Amino acid sequence: MSFETIIVEKRERYSIITLNRPDKLNALNDTLLDELQEAVSSIKTDPKVQALIITGSGAKAFAAGADIAQLHTCDTATGAIFAGKGQEVFMSIEKLGKPVLAAVNGFALGGGCELALACHIRFCSENAKFGQPEVNLGIIPGYGGTQRLTRLVGTAKSAELILSGNIIKADEAKAMGLVNAVYSQESLLQETEKFVQIILSKSASAVNTALDCILSANDMTEFEGMEYEAKKFGEVCGTDDFYEGTKAFLEKRPAVFTGK
Ligand code: COA
Repeated sequence: MSFETIIVEKRERYSIITLNRPDKLNALNDTLLDELQEAVSSIKTDPKVQALIITGSGAKAFAAGADIAQLHTCDTATGAIFAGKGQEVFMSIEKLGKPVLAAVNGFALGGGCELALACHIRFCSENAKFGQPEVNLGIIPGYGGTQRLTRLVGTAKSAELILSGNIIKADEAKAMGLVNAVYSQESLLQETEKFVQIILSKSASAVNTALDCILSANDMTEFEGMEYEAKKFGEVCGTDDFYEGTKAFLEKRPAVFTGK
C-alpha cells in the first residue's frame, strides 16, 4: 500500500504509521484522514500485525491539528460532517482491537492531541507540546477531545486546557496523566518499540481481551463492567495460552504463547 500523506511500515508483528506532511506540521487534511482510515482498517484485519505505533514525521510535530485551510470553509452542516469524519477515524483507532501507542514527537495540538488521545498509550519526546487551541479559532475540539481528555484527566484539567487554549510542555502533560512517559527525541521511537516488544512477549489473546475490558470502562457502569470482565475472564480461561501460561509457571519455564 502506498500513500501520499502517511507512511506505513511493517515490522515483525507490529506496524508503524508515520503522519507525513512535515511542511504543514502533519496537519490532518481530508486525504490524510482517508489514508489513515484505510491503513487502520487493513491493520485491523491483518493477523500478522498485533500492535500499532502512530508517530509524526520531522522533528517538530506529531500533528498540529485539523487542517485549518480546509476547516475554514465549513458551515454549520459541513462542520458537523467534518467533525464526524475525524471522530470515525479516531474511533476505529481506539477500537482497533490491538494495542495502539502514540509516539508524540513534537506538537500535538487540536486534532493532533485528539489523535494521541485515541491511542491507548502515549509516549512523548521532551520537546512535545500538547493543547486544544480550538477556542483561538472560534471553535471547540471536534475529534473527541471534549470526551476523551475529560475522561483521562478529569473535568477541571480538561476545562483548563480546552477553555484557555493553553499549550503545555511534556513534563506538565506527564504530571496530569496525559502521557505515560517522556523520552529524548532521539530515543522516543526506540523506547516505544521496546514497550511494544514487552506487549508482544505476552499472550496476544490475553492482551487484546484485557484492552477490550479496559475500554469497556468508558461505556459501562462499574457493575456492568465487572460482569463483562468476569465473562471475558471465563473466555480467556478457555484459551491455549491460558493452559500454556499456567503450566509454564508450574514447570518453572518461560511460556510459549501462540495467541490462541
Ligand atoms: N492546519 C493547516 N496548516 C497548518 C496547521 C494546521 N493546523 N498548523 C501548521 N500549519 C502550517 C502553517 O500554515 C505553515 O504552512 P506554510 O509554511 O505554508 O505557511 C506550516 O504548517 C508551518 O507552521 P508555522 O505556523 O509556520 O510554524 P511555527 O513553528 O511558527 O508554529 C504552531 C507552530 C504549531 C504553533 C502553529 O503552526 C500553530 O499554531 N498551528 C495551528 C495549531 C492549531 O490551532 N491547531 C488546531 C486546529 S483545529
